[in-house]
Amino acid sequence: MLNEREIESCYLGQFIPVHYHHNMLMDQNRMHSFKAAIHYAVKPGMKVLELGGGTGVLSYFAAAKASKVYCVEFNPDMVKEARKFLAINQNGEKVEVIHADAFEYMPPEPVDVVICEMIHVAMLREKQVEVIESFKRRYLERFGGPLPVFLPEAVIMAAQPLQQEYDFEGFHAPIVQFQETQVIHSGTVEMAQPAVYSVIDFTQPNELQYKWEGKFVAERSGCVNAMRFVTKNILAVVAERNSTIDWLNHYMTLPLGTPVQVKAGDILEVSFQYRAGGSIPSLQASLRADVVYEAALHPTHRLPAYA
Ligand SMILES: C[S@@+](CC[C@H](N)C(=O)[O-])C[C@H]1O[C@@H](n2cnc3c(N)ncnc32)[C@H](O)[C@@H]1O
Repeated sequence: MLNEREIESCYLGQFIPVHYHHNMLMDQNRMHSFKAAIHYAVKPGMKVLELGGGTGVLSYFAAAKASKVYCVEFNPDMVKEARKFLAINQNGEKVEVIHADAFEYMPPEPVDVVICEMIHVAMLREKQVEVIESFKRRYLERFGGPLPVFLPEAVIMAAQPLQQEYDFEGFHAPIVQFQETQVIHSGTVEMAQPAVYSVIDFTQPNELQYKWEGKFVAERSGCVNAMRFVTKNILAVVAERNSTIDWLNHYMTLPLGTPVQVKAGDILEVSFQYRAGGSIPSLQASLRADVVYEAALHPTHRLPAYA
């Protein structure tokens, strides 16, 4: 029997209030990428399933070409909103909004494409990985292969050491931050190149646990006091053009419990672990960084091979 805290953590990130969906609709980077990927992946007459439909916008994109879209949503407020919005949009009649849990729902027939956007930076909080792993298992039991195409198809996750300013009008507060990508942030100094720590391919079985230990070469001297987490979603692979349609989440920056002074050329070892769908504090609590090679102590040495 789960206690209240465990129940809360199971459902962490699953209930997104209605007003937050406006932010998602306004996020042009997200919307353009999904629209392009859905228009590419969904061919005329296809059957589509969306897990976690929210306002129904991604199902609406799919309905432009699909013959039928099953749109599953768990939050009863969003079920009402999605039905209301789809009724006033073109092809809305092709979308069936179903009030159900994506961990349990199975469509009544095989589908060609599964769209699922339960994505938070680093695959924290929301249950994308768990939902898709559960879906694949149940789908194969019910219909056998092949599996539908998943949208997104894959996710690449990377980490990067930063020197981050945490001064708020004189108030020092090392706190989790989300930052727009492709913008220069004056209080952020990139201390090393990012390193990929995980690649999720939704066509393959995926672990829910991420445990990583990696090394970075400091590109400049300073204080590493934060790690940036980068999450790039490969929404669709466009084979004809040898390219992909991607969506880069906002960067998430977590302060380190123990900041580390580095000199240019030093090797910094970083480790962390967390579970897909887990909380941000759980990742933050596991973050460690240490200098394992001081360039100044080895002036005649070449950098190690991994550098
Ligand atoms: C990040 S929002 C995306 C909504 C919409 N697909 C969009 O792109 O605008 C994720 C949605 O998944 C829903 N959700 C979360 N867990 C779910 C579950 N277990 N079953 C069905 N829906 C779920 C949430 O209520 C939320 O509406």
